[in-house]
Amino acid sequence: MNQDSEPEPEAARRDAGAAESSRASRGWWDRNADEYQREHGGFLGDDRFVWGPEGLDEEEAGLLGPAGELAGRSVLEVGAGAAQCSRWLAARGARPVALDISHRQLQHALRIDGAVPAFPLVQADAGALPFADGSFDLACSAYGALPFVADPVRVLREVRRVLRPGGRWVFSVTHPVRWAFPDEPGAEGLAVTASYFDRTPYVEQDERGRAVYVEHHRTLGDRVRDLVAAGFRLVDLVEPEWPGWNRQEWGGWSPLRGRLIPGTAIFVCERD
Ligand SMILES: C[S@@+](CC[C@H](N)C(=O)[O-])C[C@H]1O[C@@H](n2cnc3c(N)ncnc32)[C@H](O)[C@@H]1O
Repeated sequence: MNQDSEPEPEAARRDAGAAESSRASRGWWDRNADEYQREHGGFLGDDRFVWGPEGLDEEEAGLLGPAGELAGRSVLEVGAGAAQCSRWLAARGARPVALDISHRQLQHALRIDGAVPAFPLVQADAGALPFADGSFDLACSAYGALPFVADPVRVLREVRRVLRPGGRWVFSVTHPVRWAFPDEPGAEGLAVTASYFDRTPYVEQDERGRAVYVEHHRTLGDRVRDLVAAGFRLVDLVEPEWPGWNRQEWGGWSPLRGRLIPGTAIFVCERD
């Protein structure tokens, strides 16, 4: 039982389609946004652009291009949460739009900005982007949406559609190799317990069998094929190494595991 005496969700491996996954994500992130921002908001920083728990910062990585060339560029942030990355982009003169499926996550963006955001906040599903074709110069996502959707090619096609020709799309996800290991920060998280090749989603479901949290797995090869199928060219695949300064644990990401196995994969792509 949890604090509110509701039964704990049950963890399962079973199929979960697009509608069920979206519904589960929206509910889970609405219910858990406060805790997520309380726990990780300090590390993320209100106006930093952090690609993942390793702490790789866009300020140093420049994966969207040189920071000096961002001014005036329109950027879509997918699965923006409290829009920390968009705030960093806006401070460099870019024109971001922060999109997320979770109303509560976007309310945290309003909390940080004092109720008047400097850029648009849009509540929508990444699988159906409410923008005209060719609306953006760049698109980015730090762990937003893609780990949680049943049909990643649909999301990638949508991102491609709203990008202008030559537009860059950079997104980070949990490194696929992590799927084979328990999601534990300690030594127990270093032994393979599941097949890397098993794409059956991880689902937490309530007592009536309804999904309340879903994660989908794609192998590294699947991700490359998905990108190509959606019409992107892969320019780089960045696997950030765990830096010595970073002593924090974030769920199953930890200095111990970070030194030995990759935790994040960042795909840098371009639309022809
Ligand atoms: C791990 S959080 C990352 C948030 C933010 N980028 C950060 O680094 O803190 C994942 C985000 O993706 C959003 N999300 C999940 N599924 C989504 C979907 N189908 N469409 C849009 N956003 C989605 C969640 O609401 C959540 O805010």
